[in-house]
Amino acid sequence: MNKVMEKALNNQIAEEFYSAYLYLSMAAHCENIGLKGFANWLRVQNQEEMFHFTKFFNFVLTRGGSVKLQAIKEPPSSWKSPLDIFEQTLKHEEHITSCINKLVNQAREENDNASFNFLQWFVGEQVEEEDNVNSLLAKLKLAKDNPASLFMIDQELAARVFTPPAAAAE
Ligand SMILES: [Fe+2]
Ligand SMILES: [Fe+2]
Repeated sequence: MNKVMEKALNNQIAEEFYSAYLYLSMAAHCENIGLKGFANWLRVQNQEEMFHFTKFFNFVLTRGGSVKLQAIKEPPSSWKSPLDIFEQTLKHEEHITSCINKLVNQAREENDNASFNFLQWFVGEQVEEEDNVNSLLAKLKLAKDNPASLFMIDQELAARVFTPPAAAAE
């Protein structure tokens, strides 16, 4: 496959793996402080990131490219509050969105139509990711530090389940 794209997609594999690691660390923190619903939401988020990581991994291999796994940096392990967690989550997803946008531009510059087409799924996915986190953040801002409100949000987040995207999206 195109060598520029091979390198760029390998970097994204590491970005997605770090995302999975970050959400797992946040899940552990939430579970430790008694917010099991938040922890559940973050565990599902971890599964989604593993799905993203695998999607890039499979694509590089399908194109006959080489996968070169990189070292994953250590994620933070404590946060000031649930609000802080979701502010960091939004920041992180915005970073990932800019990575995806760069990849799309690179695919265009390299005339790599297969990669360009593959990346469109992630363009849509990032719109959803940012939207999910933004609506959660809005609720958390309304709740402030009110324990009753936090408890209600925690109950709501306990209901999230991982649903692998349809085979058509693979
Ligand atoms: Fe992702
Ligand atoms: Fe994400």
